[in-house]
Amino acid sequence: MLREGAVTLRPYALRDASAWSKVRRANETWLAPWEPLPLGSWRELNSPASFRAVYRELRKSARAGTAMPFAICFADGDARPRLVGQITIGNIVRRAFCSAYVGYWVDARVAGRGIMPTAMALAVDHAFANGGLHRIEVNIRPENTASRRVVEKLGFREEAFHQRYLHIDGAWRDHIGYALTQEEVTADGGLLARWRRSRSQAHSA
Ligand SMILES: CC(C)(COP(=O)(O)OP(=O)(O)OC[C@H]1O[C@@H](n2cnc3c(N)ncnc32)[C@H](O)[C@@H]1OP(=O)(O)O)[C@@H](O)C(=O)NCCC(=O)NCCS
Repeated sequence: MLREGAVTLRPYALRDASAWSKVRRANETWLAPWEPLPLGSWRELNSPASFRAVYRELRKSARAGTAMPFAICFADGDARPRLVGQITIGNIVRRAFCSAYVGYWVDARVAGRGIMPTAMALAVDHAFANGGLHRIEVNIRPENTASRRVVEKLGFREEAFHQRYLHIDGAWRDHIGYALTQEEVTADGGLLARWRRSRSQAHSA
């Protein structure tokens, strides 16, 4: 388990099916414009039964060493931590590349509280320190200003423009490529340390 303040990252469990389905179904208009999805209705794709298929697939990839998927839990005030999102370090390629892509989402009802930059910092530090990775890449639609802010606040480099890159929400969509290598964050004591510093500077400004 990885933790920073009210944000916890942990592996999914089968018992997450109902909470996952509820949060995903409540967020259709918030998530559908940004996610590559198989054909089917949002309700069906995000049913408790679909979670079991997603869970099996993520577990298989994790065991094969091609993904590090995490459930994101958030403890609001005194409340118990609840499932509010997901971050997956996926498409891991090792050998001379040691690189991966990150995908993520968070419940709209807790957006804007810095949950995703915190989750990203925890996941990336884990991938570099324990997962044997050297490079992390994030690809984001130019229109997705909230997601671009997440990587910009963490100091990812903008390094590519991918035309018609992913089929999302009914069409092939351009994406901006951002990346980080281990050396860049080691110099700062890790991505979480960098994120903590930038938050405290923003609060004291
Ligand atoms: C992108 C996303 C994960 C950001 O998560 P988050 O935990 O809200 O991240 P932050 O709190 O750092 O907020 C990021 C930006 O979102 C915007 N934002 C803040 N509150 C918001 C709200 N209530 N609603 C919409 N956007 C908001 C702000 O621009 C903020 O940047 P700022 O800190 O410079 O003001 C989240 O918006 C999301 O899940 N979006 C839908 C799915 C998605 O886009 N996934 C990524 C695909 S590449």
